[in-house]
Amino acid sequence: MKDIRSAIPQPLPEGLELSELDPIYREQPHARLDRLRCEAPRYQDPASETGRLFLTRHADVRAALIDRSLTRDTKKTYSRGAEAVPDTLLDKDGEELALGRMLVARAFDTRGVESRRGLITQIIDDALDGLGARFDAMRDFAAPIPIRVMTAIFGLPQDNLAQLRDWAEDAAVLGMHPNRTTEQNIRLMTSAAGLRKLVFDTIAARRAEPRDDLLSTLVLAEANGRRLDDSEVAPLCIFGMIAGSLTTTDLIGNTIVLLLQNPDQRALLEGNPRLVACAVEESLRLEPPVSAVARHVVEDGEVMGCPMRAGGTVKASLLAANHDPDLCEEPHAFRIDRLVVPKHFAFGGGAHGCLGAGLARLEAQLAVERLLARFPGLSLVPTDMPRKKTTYGFRGYARIPLSR
Ligand code: HEM
Repeated sequence: MKDIRSAIPQPLPEGLELSELDPIYREQPHARLDRLRCEAPRYQDPASETGRLFLTRHADVRAALIDRSLTRDTKKTYSRGAEAVPDTLLDKDGEELALGRMLVARAFDTRGVESRRGLITQIIDDALDGLGARFDAMRDFAAPIPIRVMTAIFGLPQDNLAQLRDWAEDAAVLGMHPNRTTEQNIRLMTSAAGLRKLVFDTIAARRAEPRDDLLSTLVLAEANGRRLDDSEVAPLCIFGMIAGSLTTTDLIGNTIVLLLQNPDQRALLEGNPRLVACAVEESLRLEPPVSAVARHVVEDGEVMGCPMRAGGTVKASLLAANHDPDLCEEPHAFRIDRLVVPKHFAFGGGAHGCLGAGLARLEAQLAVERLLARFPGLSLVPTDMPRKKTTYGFRGYARIPLSR
C-alpha cells in the first residue's frame, strides 16, 4: 500500500533549515536547494521578519551580484557583528570601495600571487614534514598553511599563529552567526579586540621602520594626495586575515576529501598532475567554502519581480547556483576532466568579487599536489570518517582523519 505521507506536499524549507547550522542541510543540502530551484527559485522565506529573498538559480545569483541598487553594507543586516570588526571593504560602496580594492589589489593580482609561489611551497613542505602516520588533515595540514601565508604577506608577527588563526576564525564564523549566545558574543568581542590590537601595534612598528611587506606598502601609500591613516590601513589587513584564512583552509580540506572519496578522479589526477587546477575548480564549484552571500535592499520596491522592503535581504546561494543544471551536466558529480570549466560563483562576483581568489587557488593547488605526491598511499580512515563543521555560511570539515 502506498504511504499516504508521500501524497501530502512537504512545506518548503525555511530560515535556518537553509543553513549549515541545520544537520540535514549540512550533510545533504541539495535535496532542499534543488527543490527550491524547481519550485520557488525566487523564494520569499516566510521565516524572515525583515524579508529574505533566497535565490538558487545561477542566472539570478549572477544578476544579484552585479545589481548596483543592492548594498553589501553589513550595518543593515540582522547578523552584524556588534561592531566588533571595523568596517571592511564589504561594507563600502562606490569610490571608497574602489580605493580600498585598488590599494590591496596589486599584492593579490596574478603577478603578486605568482611571486609568492616559492614562499607557499616552503610553507606547505614544512607542514608535510611534521605529519605523522595518522593525522588530521584540517588541524595538522590545511589550517596552518593559509595563516602563515597571509601573515607573511602582510608582515604580521609569526610567533603565535595558532592564536591569530583562532581570532580570525572567530571573527569570521561568529561574525556571520545570526543568533549568537552571550558567551559567543563575548568571544567574538575578545577575538576581534586581539586581532585589532595586533594589527594596530604592527602598523605603528611599520610606520617607525618600514619593511618589505604589505602593511609597510599600505602605510606609505598615498590616496587623494595624503597618506592613509591607521584607521584606514587596519581594516584592509584585518579583513584580509578574516577572509583569507578559514576559507582557504576549507578549500584545501574539501578538495582532499573529494579526491579521496572519488578514487577514479584521484587516479586521473595522479596520471596527469596538471589536472590539479581543474580539481580545485571542481571542488570550489561543488563545495564552495562560502555557501551564500547577502545583499540588502536600500528602498522599498521590487527585486526580480518580488516585492521587498528597505532593509530586506537578498540571499544569493552560491552553493545552489554552482549546482544549477543550467551551468553544467551532472552538476552534483565531481569530475575534474570537464572539457569546459563551469563558471562557478565560489568567489562571489560583481563589485565585491573576491580579491584573494588567485592566492587561494594557488595555495590549494600546491597543497593538494604536494600532499598526494609525498604520500601516494594516503587514505581516509574507515572507522573515523571526516566530520563536517557546524558554522553558519561556511562549508568545510571539522576533522579529516587520514592515514598515509
Ligand atoms: C577559498 C578561499 C576563498 C573563498 C571561497 C572566498 C570567497 C569570497 C567571496 C564569496 C567573496 C564575496 C563576498 C560578498 O560578495 O559578499 C569574497 C570577497 C573578498 N575576499 Fe575572498 N575568498 C577566499 C579567499 C580569500 C583570500 C585568500 C583573500 C585574501 C586577501 C580574500 C579576500 C577577499 C576580499 C578582500 C573580499 C572583499 C572584496 C570587496 O568587498 O570588494 N579572499 N571572498
